[in-house]
Amino acid sequence: MSDIERLLRLDGRVAAITGGAQGIGLAIARRLAQAGAKIALGDLSGASAQQAAETLATELGEHAIGLALDVRDEKSVVSFADQVEATLGPIAIWVNNAGIYPIRHLVDMDAAEWDLVNDVNLRGTFLGAREAARRMIRSEAMPGRVILNIASVSSCRGRPGLAHYVASKHGALGLTRSLAVELGPRGIRVLAVAPTLVVTPGLTERKESGGRDVENLEVSVANGLPLGRIAQPDDVANAALFCVSDMASLVTGSTVFVDAGATA
Ligand SMILES: NC(=O)c1ccc[n+]([C@@H]2O[C@H](COP(=O)([O-])OP(=O)(O)OC[C@H]3O[C@@H](n4cnc5c(N)ncnc54)[C@H](O)[C@@H]3O)[C@@H](O)[C@H]2O)c1
Repeated sequence: MSDIERLLRLDGRVAAITGGAQGIGLAIARRLAQAGAKIALGDLSGASAQQAAETLATELGEHAIGLALDVRDEKSVVSFADQVEATLGPIAIWVNNAGIYPIRHLVDMDAAEWDLVNDVNLRGTFLGAREAARRMIRSEAMPGRVILNIASVSSCRGRPGLAHYVASKHGALGLTRSLAVELGPRGIRVLAVAPTLVVTPGLTERKESGGRDVENLEVSVANGLPLGRIAQPDDVANAALFCVSDMASLVTGSTVFVDAGATA
């Protein structure tokens, strides 16, 4: 095995990915599985997670399981982690990816929608990171313990109609930095990946329900980006693999912007 392969391989490491049944989460799962990780997908839809895991296992011949998970719910997070560890072994990599991004202007936003977005995106990231950290601290000798949070370009700038989302994603970066400092001495790295627009089932669904044409949105966003194109899920997955691999062994508290230069 070459040095580069050795640094990128995740053979035998167990990776838990929230919101992993589709979109960015599934792309990350596939890339990590290609690097040899054993994959656990958790999703609000347990059936979709199971189906996605079966597809991955058939494609790649790696262990993959799919389970029901609601990242807002402490008991669900603990039970998911218990099942993952009972089936695949101690968790080395935890990806907080589950997220929602409904469009609503401030004056029309009720407190329930504010809470929902922040519960999934920020409380869910906190609950996931806490559960992962508790377990990773117990597995002191295990190499490559990493928590990766999926942030957004909305983690560092405002956007109309997305105040709840922008606030939650700013919070996710604050959490990333804080946990990196707190967990670094325990040998656990904490990072974030922050993408620009990525066409995923969630985005398509949101645009269609909001009456906006997805293709036009893609083109208009791409035209404003220095590199001239929006992200594919694999662009995010490639950055995620770097972050969780030993290539990034001295990188923690950082955010990798996969944004075609949007925030430059
Ligand atoms: N698509 C984009 O343009 C974009 C850009 C930047 C950041 N992001 C972030 O990337 C992440 C994934 O986005 P996506 O576009 O792939 O979304 P998606 O809607 O395609 O997939 C998200 C998955 O999360 C699951 N999920 C939702 N609520 C959950 C909950 N409470 N518990 C567990 N699972 C839950 C959904 O069932 C779904 O399978 C999100 O955090 C999002 O904010 C997306």
